[in-house]
Amino acid sequence: MTNMLADELNNIRLSALPAIAVADAASLEELRVSLMGKTGSVTQLLKSLGNMEAEARKAAGAEINQLKAEITESLATRRAVLDAAALEARLAAERLDVTQPPRPEPAGAIHPLSRTMEEIAAIFSAMGFAIKDGPDIESDWHNFSALNIPGHHPARAMMDTFYLTGGEVLRTHTSPVQIRTLLNEQPPIRIIVPGRTFRSDHDATHSPMFHQCEGLVVGEGITLGHLKGCLTDFLSAYFDVPSLPVRLRSSYFPFTEPSMEVDIGWNKKTGEIGGGTDWLEIGGSGMVHPNVLANCGIDPRQYQGFAFGVGLERLTMLKHGIADLRLFYESDVRWLRHYGFSPLAPATLHEGF
Ligand code: DAH
Repeated sequence: MTNMLADELNNIRLSALPAIAVADAASLEELRVSLMGKTGSVTQLLKSLGNMEAEARKAAGAEINQLKAEITESLATRRAVLDAAALEARLAAERLDVTQPPRPEPAGAIHPLSRTMEEIAAIFSAMGFAIKDGPDIESDWHNFSALNIPGHHPARAMMDTFYLTGGEVLRTHTSPVQIRTLLNEQPPIRIIVPGRTFRSDHDATHSPMFHQCEGLVVGEGITLGHLKGCLTDFLSAYFDVPSLPVRLRSSYFPFTEPSMEVDIGWNKKTGEIGGGTDWLEIGGSGMVHPNVLANCGIDPRQYQGFAFGVGLERLTMLKHGIADLRLFYESDVRWLRHYGFSPLAPATLHEGF
């Protein structure tokens, strides 16, 4: 090894190692590049080995590699020190003070429609009903045919259906969940189905997406008297009017026979539910059509049932004096704060609503 090379190695060692030992993250990287990078000084020396005689190369190579190893090690040592310090600093800066009091932000509120569903679920649970749901996208068969509404039937035109390209529909009512339940369960059946429904209809009293609650009871010896008693109990509990007048008015639905509209007594002028002499329609109902039971493999000579469907926006608007159905979906925070319910006070029957 020449003296010149020995001097050079020494110079590099004497300037590089102390500099590395005190470098910050940025200058450490600069040092690494200037020493070990493609054109770094140590790299250059290694390249120069190629021009040496075999003997000289051996000795010089050993020395240069020794320096390279020392530098590599001190770079790694310094890097570890810097990384540990950076982590410490981050941990200190991001420390959470779990003893801090909560920020005084307004709590969220339960949407009035969700509240209505909770109340209905509480009332019907107390009467032994199970709560079911079903898909928003339905087959034509579940939404219409199985409910005794065949393809050519004018009742299909009663519902402004959203058809999907695959032939399915956005369910126009919660009634298809009657079918899903009858196919999967044996009587006695007692269910309610609160959920979203869809029709291509839009004005102050209609929204393309709205909510219904279906009810279905199937068993032996079920009569229209059970239907009326059940609806009367439900509606008096929901509106908190002990002797709420309930009227069943003859009507037509393909999936019930006989079919009836459900009206409650109210005062049209004041909006008071249960007072006055006016009637207000709040849903449809009837005795389950034997064809519907038979379509689902249930023998209509052995089992009877009743069903009903109510509009949840309607029930909510009446109970809380909400004038325009569109307000439900506008997500206006001021409106939601005013009409919303505390999440800490869930709907339970024994406390009343
Ligand atoms: N599915 C009907 C509608 O959306 C409502 C309805 C009427 C449901 C009578 C029922 C029923 O279960 O028995 O207009």
